[in-house]
Amino acid sequence: MTNLTFGIIKPDAVRAGHTGSIIQRILDGGFKIRGLKLIHITRREAEGFYEVHRERPFFSGLTEFMSSGPCVVMALEKEGAVKAWRDLMGATDPAKADAGTLRKEFGGSVGENAVHGSDSDENAAIEIGYFFSRLELV
Ligand code: RTP
Ligand code: MG
Repeated sequence: MTNLTFGIIKPDAVRAGHTGSIIQRILDGGFKIRGLKLIHITRREAEGFYEVHRERPFFSGLTEFMSSGPCVVMALEKEGAVKAWRDLMGATDPAKADAGTLRKEFGGSVGENAVHGSDSDENAAIEIGYFFSRLELV
């Protein structure tokens, strides 16, 4: 799994019509797409996904937002995928993200920041398994 990561195009970016542009940036960045689907997750599914943040003050707003509309979930392959995808995403707060990153370009606020990426190889495997069945991964 070391060359795989998990990404989400979050509901704000899908709603704004940025899905195609973000996928193009992913391909231009040298990633191979191994899994991809548009889903609308429930509040409960969002809570399960962000379980590690349950005690944080932003948990309620975050899970409400993530279940507010469709999002695109992706399994992405590249050498050093976890870091490469986080580098392309940029800092959590779009205002602090470097020029040329997805969050700088498409993120609106720290809460609605366009994309998600796994923070470790271990979590990438867990997160891919949370959203994809074996049949959905090529
Ligand atoms: P992500 O998990 O979505 O890829 O983002 P991240 O690693 O850069 O940030 P993390 O600390 O894991 O936070 C997860 C998501 O929670 C929202 N958040 N809101 N209002 C706030 O202060 C706040 N802090 C974090 C963001 O949507 C962040 O992406
Ligand atoms: Mg995170």
